[in-house]
Amino acid sequence: MTPEGTYPPLLTPKPVADGVWIVDGPEIGFYRMDFPTRMTAIRLASGAMWLHSPVKFSEPLLEALQAQGPIRHLVAPNWIHYAFVADWSDALPGAEVWACPGVAERAAEKGVDLRVDHVLTDEAPAPWRGEVAQIVVPGSRIHREAVFFHRPTSTLILTDLIENFEPRKLPWHIRLMTRLAGNQDPNGSMPRDMRLLFDRDALRGAVRRMIDWGPERVILAHGRWYETGGVAELRRAFAWLEP
Ligand SMILES: [Fe+2]
Repeated sequence: MTPEGTYPPLLTPKPVADGVWIVDGPEIGFYRMDFPTRMTAIRLASGAMWLHSPVKFSEPLLEALQAQGPIRHLVAPNWIHYAFVADWSDALPGAEVWACPGVAERAAEKGVDLRVDHVLTDEAPAPWRGEVAQIVVPGSRIHREAVFFHRPTSTLILTDLIENFEPRKLPWHIRLMTRLAGNQDPNGSMPRDMRLLFDRDALRGAVRRMIDWGPERVILAHGRWYETGGVAELRRAFAWLEP
């Protein structure tokens, strides 16, 4: 893929709601495809900064985020989104690392030295309880993903449960691949190979809970995210779950 495959400016916090920023990162290679990456940053009511799925580390980015508040929490939301967390946690020894179940094991398997201070559960921990709701989406022993809902701004944060690659940003062969995989804009969804990993009933229950949160915006880690109409996008993206 080319630099046009990303969402510039890169490695720069971009405000999307009060106390919520996205940071678009460079592409990372995964299997035979290069993916644009996106981090979400939230400033909690305490003033602490919470970073979800950190993108490539850079000093200027660290400074830009710290200017909004001290970074206290680093979140690795699923088993394939931890690659850059170690760099951030090395730079921020005082920040706590929160990982989805399975992340620590996966990192160890891959020989990545990752500090995990806490494993995420269905219950939001004290630092963001009442402010950011969370679920570890059930239904798969392989792909487990923690999803988050920032109540004050009605923002849902997904990682890979919906991917939405824009065809105009893709070389032709990846355009074809993503169309077949079901993760191409405007029909972004869970890639078909990932769907096979899930028990549909369990996943459907989690999607209902996300819909009940009533999100307005849905931030995704890959591709075009949804600034409005979050509930409708969830219903559309997970329509394949309906019997
Ligand atoms: Fe991903």
